[in-house]
Amino acid sequence: MNETRQITEAELSRQREYERAIRARFEEREAHPVALVDTFGCQQNVADGERLAGMLKNMGFSFTKDPREADLVLLNTCAVREHAEQRVFGNLGALTHTKRENPAQIIALCGCMAQEPRVSERVRRSYSHVDLVFGPHALWRFPELLWEVYEHRTRVFAVEEEAGSIAEGTPVERNAGVRAWVSIMYGCNNFCSYCIVPYVRGRERSRTPEAVEAEVRELVEAGYKDITLLGQNVNSYGRGTDCDFATLLARLDRIPGRYWLRFMSSHPRDASDKLFRTMANGEHIARQLHLPFQSGNDRVLQAMNRRYTRERYLSLIAAARAAMPELVLTSDVIIGFPGETEAEADDTISLVEEVGFHALFTFLYSPRPGTKAASMPDPVPREEKQRRFDKLLAVQNARSAALHAACVGRTLRVLADGRSDDPAYPLTGRTEGNRLVRFTGSPDLIGGFTDVAITGNTTWSLYGEAET
Ligand code: SAM
Ligand code: SF4
Ligand code: F3S
Repeated sequence: MNETRQITEAELSRQREYERAIRARFEEREAHPVALVDTFGCQQNVADGERLAGMLKNMGFSFTKDPREADLVLLNTCAVREHAEQRVFGNLGALTHTKRENPAQIIALCGCMAQEPRVSERVRRSYSHVDLVFGPHALWRFPELLWEVYEHRTRVFAVEEEAGSIAEGTPVERNAGVRAWVSIMYGCNNFCSYCIVPYVRGRERSRTPEAVEAEVRELVEAGYKDITLLGQNVNSYGRGTDCDFATLLARLDRIPGRYWLRFMSSHPRDASDKLFRTMANGEHIARQLHLPFQSGNDRVLQAMNRRYTRERYLSLIAAARAAMPELVLTSDVIIGFPGETEAEADDTISLVEEVGFHALFTFLYSPRPGTKAASMPDPVPREEKQRRFDKLLAVQNARSAALHAACVGRTLRVLADGRSDDPAYPLTGRTEGNRLVRFTGSPDLIGGFTDVAITGNTTWSLYGEAET
C-alpha cells in the first residue's frame, strides 16, 4: 500500500495561515463570529465534525445550536440512506429564511453528500444561498476554502473526485467528556453493492501506527477513558504493511492508564482468530464487538458483494465467543435488499435468533444512485419489506430485553459519563460491553469507573445502584 498522499507540513501550515487571516479579519471588525456545526451520520463524520470545529475555533469562532444566531452554518452530511439526504435538503431549504434575515450569513455543506456529483450539481443549480460545498477529501483545506468565500464573496465548490489523502495534525475540538474518537483509517475498498461510502470517501488508507499511538496516548493522558478506533473496515488496517489491526491493538493496549479501547466497524471477511486472541488478552480492550452481518442468506450476501457466507459468519462468532465468553455482540443488518424473498429475509431472522446480539442496527434497504444494487430489479413492495422489518425487530427486541434481564443481580463495571433525565436514577454510564446504565450514586462519580449493582432493565438499557 501507501501510494496514499500524505498532506505535507507545508500544506498544513498554509491552512494555519488562512485560519489566522480569518481570525484577524474578525478581530479588525471587533466581531465575535459564531458557528453552527450540524453533523449527521456515523462516528467517522462525528470525528470529522470535531476537526472542523477545531479549525473554526482557531479562526476565532465560538459555537451555537441556533441557526438564527450563527454567522456560519456548516452541515456535515451523510449519504448512506435517502432519508438522511432528504433531511439535509429540508434543513438547507429552511436556511433560506435565516439567510434572508442575516444576508452576511455563510452557509456551507460538507461531508459525504457533498462528494456526490448529483448533490453538488443540485445545490449549484437550486440552492443559490449555499456559499460553500466541499467533500471529505477537501476537509483539511476548509480554512482556505472559507477564506475564498469571505475574500471574494463567490460561491466555492471543492468536490473533485480523488482517491484520498491523509492529513496529520489538523486541529480538533473534542466534545468534553470521557469518550473520544480516533480515526485510524479512511475510505473503503469493499464496494458492497448497496453502499455509497466507497464512492464518497475514496480508497482505503491507513494512518501510521506511530501517529495513532501518539494520539491515543495524548487522549489517555488528557483523561479520556473510553476511546473508539474508527474505520469503515478496521480489520484491513495497515494492509500491505507489517502492522495489521491486531498488532496495532496490542501496541495501543500497552499504553498505561485506566481506559477502555473499542473499535468499529469490523468486516467479517477480514476478522481473524488473531484479533480475538488479542482482544481476550488485552488489559484495556473492551470485550465488545460490532460485526455487521447484513444478511443471513448466502445468495443475498453474494449479491451484496460481502464475500463471506452465513456459515463463515457463524464460525467467526463461535471463535470470538470461545476466546471471550462474556463478549457483547452487536451488528448491522439490512432488510429489503433488491429481490430479497420472504424465505431469504427469514434466514436473516433465524441468524439473529441463533447468534443472540445484545443490540442490532436495523436498516430498510435504501437505493443509492450510482451503486450496483440501485439498478437491480426490486419487485417487493415497500409495505411487504416493512412487515418483514417489523418481524425482525420484534425478534431482536425480545432478545435484547432477555440479555439485559440476565444482567440483573450482577455487578458490572461502569464508566459514569453524565446525568440522566430520570430523577430516580440520576447518573448515566456505559458498561464494558457499551450497554447504557442509569443508576443511583453521587455525582462525584461522573468521569470515573465505578461498580454498579444491576437491579432492573428495559429492552435497551440497565438500571442499578453504585456500590461506592
Ligand atoms: N463499513 C461498515 C461495515 O461494512 O460494516 C458500515 C458502514 S455503513 C456507514 C453503516 C451501515 O449502514 C451498514 O453496515 C449497512 O447496514 C447500512 N447501509 C449502508 N448502505 C445502506 C443502504 N443503501 N440501505 C440501507 N442500509 C445501508
Ligand atoms: Fe459500505 Fe461495505 Fe465499505 Fe462498509 S465495507 S463502508 S458497508 S462498502
Ligand atoms: Fe458515515 Fe454516512 Fe458518510 S454513514 S461515512 S457519514 S455516508
